[in-house]
Amino acid sequence: MQMKNIVLFGFMGTGKTSVGRKLAAELGLKFVDMDLVIERREGRAISDIFATDGEPYFRSLERELVKELAAGDGMVIGTGGGVVLNKDNIADFSRAGTCVCLSAAPEELLKRLEHDGSRPLLADGDKLAKINGILDARKDLYGGVPEQIDTTGLSVDDVVAQIRQLYAAPND
Ligand code: S3P
Repeated sequence: MQMKNIVLFGFMGTGKTSVGRKLAAELGLKFVDMDLVIERREGRAISDIFATDGEPYFRSLERELVKELAAGDGMVIGTGGGVVLNKDNIADFSRAGTCVCLSAAPEELLKRLEHDGSRPLLADGDKLAKINGILDARKDLYGGVPEQIDTTGLSVDDVVAQIRQLYAAPND
């Protein structure tokens, strides 16, 4: 039987990877972390790609991977937080499965990202100000994803259970 995909969107630190892994294991689907695929193919970290070739190059890799993944099925896909910057990415994934955007309060995101050095867009300077600035700039883009879950105060299991309900719903 063909199983449709579940695609997880959301800002850095909203739990796409931890939720995605658990969800995929419970449903017997394959988990694909887009950032990891890109890093593996490029043989270097996202921060190196940004530093050496710039963000537009990273976005072009991301775009190509979206097209590739949207043609498949049976996956839980954890996107990178900036995948929403290209509306074609949301459109392609919307045709390819259940699209869920995870969110969390900025202060909660700061707690989760405070000691993280792997996100080039949050490197240097006031992290909370950066989080708020990017969230504000992308508000409408994240808001355009069909299903929304605010993960503030929720455990990974809580979020997984909510997504399983959406996935099982007859009208999606
Ligand atoms: C980015 C989010 C990151 C990664 C890159 C850019 C963004 O992914 O793709 O650092 O623009 O929000 P995560 O959301 O998995 O951290």
